[in-house]
Amino acid sequence: MEARDVPISVPALATEPQFAQRLREHLEGKQLLDRRYQLQKVQGGHVALPVLEEKLSQLWLPQEMPCALVQIQDPVPSRAVRRQTPAQKLREDLRQLLGESWSEELERDVPHAWQRHGDLVLLSEDSFRAAHWENLGPALWETVASALGAQRLAKRGRVLPDGMRSPSVTLLLGQDGWVEHVDNGIRYTFDVTKCMFSAGNITEKLRVASLPCSGEVLVDLYAGIGYFTLPYLVHAGAAFAHACEWNGHAVEALRRNLALNGVQDRCHVHHGDSRQLELQDVADRVNLGLIPSSEEGWPVACRVLKSTGGVLHIHHNVESVPVPAPSQTPVLQVEQGSPEAANTDREAQGLTEDSGKETLGARIRPEWQRWAEATAARIQELLVELHGQLWCTSILHIEPVKSYAPHVHHLVLDLECRPVPST
Ligand SMILES: C[S@@+](CC[C@H](N)C(=O)[O-])C[C@H]1O[C@@H](n2cnc3c(N)ncnc32)[C@H](O)[C@@H]1O
Repeated sequence: MEARDVPISVPALATEPQFAQRLREHLEGKQLLDRRYQLQKVQGGHVALPVLEEKLSQLWLPQEMPCALVQIQDPVPSRAVRRQTPAQKLREDLRQLLGESWSEELERDVPHAWQRHGDLVLLSEDSFRAAHWENLGPALWETVASALGAQRLAKRGRVLPDGMRSPSVTLLLGQDGWVEHVDNGIRYTFDVTKCMFSAGNITEKLRVASLPCSGEVLVDLYAGIGYFTLPYLVHAGAAFAHACEWNGHAVEALRRNLALNGVQDRCHVHHGDSRQLELQDVADRVNLGLIPSSEEGWPVACRVLKSTGGVLHIHHNVESVPVPAPSQTPVLQVEQGSPEAANTDREAQGLTEDSGKETLGARIRPEWQRWAEATAARIQELLVELHGQLWCTSILHIEPVKSYAPHVHHLVLDLECRPVPST
């Protein structure tokens, strides 16, 4: 419990030490004892037992025990409270707030987990659904925030199917939803009520940060708030980035993030539909970080590539059939000899998917390889059409980012694209 959560004083019944145990049993039996605070010695050698303020009207002083109503100054939180997890504390504080109207239905609505963004706690969609919570007004959110040690509260809804990945988050307490994160030494700020936070892409952000991009020009077709643009600029050594994003809220966060990390002069933000991007022959590398598919961006990715070629990082969700046991599965190994083959250490640690037992990473599934080959062939066709000469594509690496749904994996294909010199 934080100091600011402890009231200055709490009501208590003071009695002589020899009656303290009996009085305690009596108060416990009547559910009047306030277990959040320790018993305390008070004037005259008496012992004071904290009682619940909201139940004072029900307090009836037992005649056989001499006792008096007093106030404990600076009450000390009980050991049980000090040991409480935030989830237990939340439940306990809500139970106190609701008093008699506490019910099993309400208890089921109290969340066990939440996302913390600094002083803002983001609650899940399935919490506080019962209509009764609304009767409590602002006191509910003040109690929740205080129990969780937060200043601001927001609640998640569904991600809107509007193509902008708008998060449908409602601010419940506080003035605004802007939060800040530091991730791999990079500072990100964004408004949780307006922009999506893709925590699951952390491995890909780290991988991107370690790619050797010194002096290169990057085009990020789906920049969001800069989750990939920034690692390319800050860590991977990219000389310049063109970041394209059509969601105005994300663009605002992206601009702030570029400035926060001192790389605003090395990035041009294109606010609009990346399919309409008026660039060509500029990129050494193109990031296509859109799932379930970035296919609509393939033509523009091919167009922006330099005439000397470059690398595309193509994100896609790929479905595969369930795998019974690793030993029975025909698998293809990650290509050896490519710079990215060095990733196999991290991959071999595996990512957990579906059942939670199967590991990803070291094994490239046949469906993934088939998707990568089909993509390489399609991109080659597009390159030939757009550049009017022969090009070749080669699969450098297939990175499983995360399990997206049962048997569906978010993959990234690193595809090298080069013009074939005419003889
Ligand atoms: C899944 S988010 C990815 C953002 C970032 N790469 C990440 O991992 O957090 C995709 C972003 O692409 C944007 N987007 C989708 N289609 C777009 C388009 N045609 N043109 C520009 N931006 C687009 C969305 O608004 C969203 O911010």
